[in-house]
Amino acid sequence: MSFVGIELNRPMEVRTGKALDIKSVSVEFDGFKALTDVTVGVKRNTIHFFIGPNGAGKTTLLDIICAKTKPTSGTVHFYPAEGYEILLTGMKEYEIVNAGVGRKFQVPSVFTEISVYENMVLSLSGNKRIFASIFRKTSAEENDLIADVLDKVGLTEHANKKAGSLSHGQKQWLEIGMQLAARPKIIMLDEPAAGMGKPETFKTGELLQRIKDICTVIVVEHDMEFVKQVADNVTVLHEGKVLIEGNIDDVLADETVQKVYLGRGGD
Ligand SMILES: Nc1ncnc2c1ncn2[C@@H]1O[C@H](COP(=O)(O)OP(=O)(O)O)[C@@H](O)[C@H]1O
Ligand SMILES: [Mg+2]
Repeated sequence: MSFVGIELNRPMEVRTGKALDIKSVSVEFDGFKALTDVTVGVKRNTIHFFIGPNGAGKTTLLDIICAKTKPTSGTVHFYPAEGYEILLTGMKEYEIVNAGVGRKFQVPSVFTEISVYENMVLSLSGNKRIFASIFRKTSAEENDLIADVLDKVGLTEHANKKAGSLSHGQKQWLEIGMQLAARPKIIMLDEPAAGMGKPETFKTGELLQRIKDICTVIVVEHDMEFVKQVADNVTVLHEGKVLIEGNIDDVLADETVQKVYLGRGGD
């Protein structure tokens, strides 16, 4: 049993390593069922993909986790490694971010006129006052954190470049880095490889593999090559329902997935 943001007991999931538990979540928009009875468990320090055709409900599910949208019914529990069950359902968006569940939106939030490093400084404290943030002194720990994150997202050599001069892919990686600066326990990415060519998509996959040691990664994606490259677990959504969940090989081998999602006899 748990209350909003309050811990009452040390749950099983602390030992079994679950980071997130989505239970029987349904969402209706004016009678339209965007999600129906969705139940998904996400294991800690894994890369978990939500895939499925357009309109399947993938983004809506991320919206539910971060409280941008309220479920009609169902719950989402978060289990941080240090062990206290947190009922995310009913919490406010910023409370969920503060609890350690971060989300990168598809809309860019990088400041193009300042450097990569300065963007990182900005994201450190969540300080919205740009000038106060950029010109404040960073501590040794903060600089270490920035250096570590820039290394993970592959932007160390570009730290002093204007963010606006980065390629599309590099800007996306910077945004992921800015999310990581808040040290989230879970990071959610909605189509992080959108608009990227194959080499950049592949590098994004490598990046995700580097960061899953420090946080659980939830990804919404279309590109099957990308999914195959990095997915530990995959949940296929179709018309708001879970079609199948498992490791990538099981999912790809499933006949219904081949019919419904891949749209062909399967290859
Ligand atoms: N705020 C909303 N109001 C009404 N319908 C919505 C809203 N958000 C999403 N939908 C509908 O819910 C369905 C699932 O959308 P979405 O989660 O964005 O799908 P996906 O990300 O898998 O492409 C779509 O049919 C979409 O039109
Ligand atoms: Mg979407």
